[in-house]
Amino acid sequence: MTIAVTGAAGKTGRAVLAALAELGVPTRALVRPGRPGSTSAVADLGATETVTADLADASQVAAALSGASAAYVIAPNVHPDEPSLVANVLAAGVPRVVYHSVLHPSVEAMPHHWAKARVEEALLASDLDWTVLQPCAYAQNLRVPADAVLRVPYSVDARFAFVDLLDVAAVAASVLTEPGHSYASYQLAGPELLSVADAAVLLGVRAERQNINEWYLDTPLRGYARDALGAMFAYYDEHGLVGNPRVITALLGRAPTAVADVLARASERPE
Ligand SMILES: NC(=O)c1ccc[n+]([C@@H]2O[C@H](COP(=O)([O-])OP(=O)(O)OC[C@H]3O[C@@H](n4cnc5c(N)ncnc54)[C@H](OP(=O)(O)O)[C@@H]3O)[C@@H](O)[C@H]2O)c1
Repeated sequence: MTIAVTGAAGKTGRAVLAALAELGVPTRALVRPGRPGSTSAVADLGATETVTADLADASQVAAALSGASAAYVIAPNVHPDEPSLVANVLAAGVPRVVYHSVLHPSVEAMPHHWAKARVEEALLASDLDWTVLQPCAYAQNLRVPADAVLRVPYSVDARFAFVDLLDVAAVAASVLTEPGHSYASYQLAGPELLSVADAAVLLGVRAERQNINEWYLDTPLRGYARDALGAMFAYYDEHGLVGNPRVITALLGRAPTAVADVLARASERPE
């Protein structure tokens, strides 16, 4: 058994690799070519093998996945071609695929969520043995800012079901190694609904709303990434991103980790 993990050197990939290593499962980390730092980072996390492949290159992806028994498919964050990059993975002939989607991919107003819904549609139409995980934004995204002001370009009172990335990784590892998860889509939401204002209290900083036009002027992002994140902030402003923890509770066999506990852990040992 070898479980391949794409996007392995990223924030999500590192957490999933570590969770699989803890179970003693052989893993193959796929990292972007020309990134020696990524290769050593995934080896340090316990990846059994490391291979390079640009997800945009179908032949590189097929070679990198050859012989793998399952793939955990993490697409690059806010990528304009996510459906075609993932299509290269789905075409590679790995019999079992677990796709790292997002909570509420059906929201068309957020283009990078909608792109994940297109990937999920491709899975439904495939002959693969698939499972979909749909995590909310990670609690780990909440950090003490350098100027002690948690500044976001949407309402600081909008509510989110922030989820612990380590809980998500633990679910990923069990779904990849246990039987009985074929053709399931699991929403992974944290145990409470919190706003950025609530998170600022937990972090001991101030929350402040940034004008969205200022964000557009300030951000170094361009093109699809800027437009997709701008659309996401507009959606967050009106609706936040709410979810329900019952599914993750059942999958973990315990309550998911509270945001306060994730933040306390990060202050002791940065993740
Ligand atoms: N962050 C969240 O709160 C959250 C919540 C739910 C779902 N998600 C989803 O989780 C996924 C991963 O997010 P993340 O935060 O872990 O992102 P990340 O840290 O940026 O990791 C993405 C990884 O993909 C690699 N990559 C980029 N382009 C590539 C290419 N063409 N070929 C091969 N590898 C490539 C990157 O390589 P380099 O290291 O070389 O750049 C990076 O290691 C995204 O699809 C995101 O939508 C994230």
